[in-house]
Amino acid sequence: MTNLLENKKGIIFGALDERSIAWKVAEKVHEQGGKFILSNAPIALRMGKINELAEKCGTEVIAADATSMEDLGKLVSESQEKLGGKLDFVLHSIGMSPNVRKNKSYTGLNHDWFLKTLDISALSFHKTMQTLWDQDAMNDWGSILGLTYVAAQEAYPFYSDMADAKAALESIARSFGYHYGVRNKVRVNTISQSPTVTSAGSGIAGFDKFFSFADEMSPLGNADGESCADYCMTLFSDLTRYVTMQNLYHDGGYSMTGISAKVMEKWGES
Ligand SMILES: NC(=O)c1ccc[n+]([C@@H]2O[C@H](COP(=O)([O-])OP(=O)(O)OC[C@H]3O[C@@H](n4cnc5c(N)ncnc54)[C@H](O)[C@@H]3O)[C@@H](O)[C@H]2O)c1
Repeated sequence: MTNLLENKKGIIFGALDERSIAWKVAEKVHEQGGKFILSNAPIALRMGKINELAEKCGTEVIAADATSMEDLGKLVSESQEKLGGKLDFVLHSIGMSPNVRKNKSYTGLNHDWFLKTLDISALSFHKTMQTLWDQDAMNDWGSILGLTYVAAQEAYPFYSDMADAKAALESIARSFGYHYGVRNKVRVNTISQSPTVTSAGSGIAGFDKFFSFADEMSPLGNADGESCADYCMTLFSDLTRYVTMQNLYHDGGYSMTGISAKVMEKWGES
């Protein structure tokens, strides 16, 4: 199916390099006829390859630190000017924990960093939506998506304070989704994605092991970034207009599997 997003306009946050989920989403939105502005933190613009992506998709990059209401305000107003009207979709594909980066255990967190984790990985979703709301920037029946991980529901020791940030992110999607639904029929959802090889993903201690474990636990195997981007297309399209305030698992069945035969077999080995 092509042109699923014809005449739709939006903002895509979080494309750092080709592995980023947001990068793959941008490529697919472009394929499906949608127009968008790319955004990332100023430092990511210097370090990443986002300009290559912008060129490929015939679009522009506007820098914004997603924790800054000032940056977000400018991004949302300039995006509407450049795209020629209100927005239909927004992807929040942002996550970072200084504690995870510096290998702090959950029982020995630096709490200033913990606040940063929450601000970057969760509150930024609220700040983005409040900015869109205040500028009345979304068209009716628009779609806003955030990306999350199953550690919001279950204990994953290595995921540290990101687990708490994801729990907050999912709650913000529900809470804002209520208000946005009533006012503008705008839907807000989170996608709970399989472990995926990206800069943020592979920065987590023991990533390779839990990537393989999840792959062997999931009846369909891990969902890759490309498939996640496909799923995002359905949620930005008009085919899912009544799906809102949901945390949607895109994980090959992992979250509903107690144990798999492949994982059990490992216990027979000495
Ligand atoms: N990779 C995985 O295993 C996995 C699994 C489930 C969910 N997710 C989620 O998917 C999303 C995208 O991550 P990814 O795996 O594509 O990794 P990624 O590293 O490519 O993307 C994370 C992005 O967040 C951006 N960012 C960090 N701080 C920011 C700030 N202050 N303002 C604006 N942007 C900022 C980074 O520059 C980067 O582009 C994240 O929310 C992540 O938690 C990832």
